[in-house]
Amino acid sequence: MSADRQAPAERPLLEMRDVARFFDVSPPWYQRLFGGGSRRVLRAVDGVDLDLPRGRTLSLVGESGCGKSTLARLAVGLYPLSRGSIRFDGMEMSVRDGSFAERRTRRRIQMIFQDPFASLNPRWRVARIIGEPIRVHEPGTGEAERRSRVRELLEMVGLDADAAARYPHQFSGGQRQRISIARALAARPDLLICDEPTSALDVSVQAQILNLMRELQEELGLTYLFISHDLSAVRFISDYVGVMYLGRLVEWGEAETLFRNPRHPYTRKLLESVPNLAEPGRARTPIAGEVPSPLSPPPGCHFNPRCPLAMAKCRTDTPGMVRTGPGGVRCFAVEEETATA
Ligand SMILES: Nc1ncnc2c1ncn2[C@@H]1O[C@H](COP(=O)(O)OP(=O)(O)OP(=O)(O)O)[C@@H](O)[C@H]1O
Ligand SMILES: [Mg+2]
Repeated sequence: MSADRQAPAERPLLEMRDVARFFDVSPPWYQRLFGGGSRRVLRAVDGVDLDLPRGRTLSLVGESGCGKSTLARLAVGLYPLSRGSIRFDGMEMSVRDGSFAERRTRRRIQMIFQDPFASLNPRWRVARIIGEPIRVHEPGTGEAERRSRVRELLEMVGLDADAAARYPHQFSGGQRQRISIARALAARPDLLICDEPTSALDVSVQAQILNLMRELQEELGLTYLFISHDLSAVRFISDYVGVMYLGRLVEWGEAETLFRNPRHPYTRKLLESVPNLAEPGRARTPIAGEVPSPLSPPPGCHFNPRCPLAMAKCRTDTPGMVRTGPGGVRCFAVEEETATA
């Protein structure tokens, strides 16, 4: 891992540059040998630039299959990069040397998943589930100290101390998600990556978990990368929002600005497609057309076949990111509009 020089206070905690991840989804070689198809590469994430400031929440939104989870997994180091770089607190994360420094840095990034039941070991008591990261990352910790830290973590996530003696199946979905959060916090992370953490929960429970996340952020100075299809949850929790379409970031900006004044035609369609709680009577318009296959995305701007503003060059050229205040948008129509304004 290599750190470079810049005052840590002003530097974003997570810096992604031209991040890409391709999957080889070719049929097996013997099938190809006998004429059964050719090599195929799926570009799940293709050239994303994003910064995540410390102590803030950045959410990723976009239709299913646009690459949100893949980007999250890249950030946590679950997949190697196909191109680009990810820096966490100035450290290049693609360098894997197995060193103590590397392990210490990776510990500072933890992930929370959609389904807490699948991610918690059903045969372990909660004390062991939450105690395990402490045992791994702070091996010098004694038994009594570990137990007291588990109690402290349970309290932090709003569970009683007697939860420690029970098994995951003895809890409700919301309580299980609290246990997952306590387990993530046991590693003393700076960055929590939350991939649809509330999608499997009842609406009333979702709000409680989101409130808990906000309280913990305030208390511990945590930074969140949050992924959700629920745009009201995204609006509630985010400082910044990034909109993805077929592996590319098409717009990003401050959450309130993006929700009030979406610039990219895709962002506009995405926001129009959700029911508006403030105006329940208003008809919502689903986005016309299907997301094209990421195996053969349309040339030019990937959104051009579904875009009401598409021009000739949108079908051949890829727009660059144009800055809009603190954010940016990748669209030729917006670029022209900005140039003539
Ligand atoms: N391990 C993998 N091997 C092959 N293809 C993959 C793999 N993981 C993801 N993909 C593909 O990459 C694309 C992006 O998937 P990803 O799961 O990142 O999307 P997503 O935005 O998280 O979608 P959702 O909203 O449904 O969770 C999809 O076309 C998916 O099929
Ligand atoms: Mg996903």
